[in-house]
Amino acid sequence: MPTPELEVLLSEETIRERVAELAIQISHDYKAEGVDDVYMLGVLRGAFIFLADLSRRLTLPRRVDFIALSSYEDASTTSGAVRLVLDVRAPLRGKHVLIVEDIVDSGKTLDYLLKILAAREPASLKTCVLLHKPERLEVPTRIDYLGFTIPDKWVVGYGLDYTDRYRTLPYIGVVQPER
Ligand code: PRP
Repeated sequence: MPTPELEVLLSEETIRERVAELAIQISHDYKAEGVDDVYMLGVLRGAFIFLADLSRRLTLPRRVDFIALSSYEDASTTSGAVRLVLDVRAPLRGKHVLIVEDIVDSGKTLDYLLKILAAREPASLKTCVLLHKPERLEVPTRIDYLGFTIPDKWVVGYGLDYTDRYRTLPYIGVVQPER
């Protein structure tokens, strides 16, 4: 049952179908490139549910690791600065790294991540992003696989939060932030 005060933007079923499509596309592309071991790198905390679902639907060998970055000082404002809070556990040199992100908003987080990870000389570096808000983009960044383009609204659920609430909703809804 949807939480009453939230408008449903993307239903559980819509997300499930799109994640399945992405998994087919990603599996196909890596196989076509001769890659047989993908190093999936989830960006905490928002991507944990997307990563869990996507990783289980891929049809090629994969490993899972996490990195944590922080870009927002509080719930509804952007500091502009990105901080590395938790690093990966293994060297990335020679690995086929697939960054899994829940959302690209300003683009600063993914841009920062691509720069620091490229310097570690992975064999390849791609990105899979569930949600993209083009109206908010400040730093153009590379998205290889995209789930949905969405309007400039504060979205929650399926990993995304508002003041640490709503993360575990099975669908993506819209909240009205207190400004
Ligand atoms: C959110 C989201 C992305 C980032 C996108 O993370 O998960 O990582 O912001 O914003 P940007 O494109 O403007 O950089 P947040 O810092 O809120 O942390 P969280 O994932 O732990 O909620």
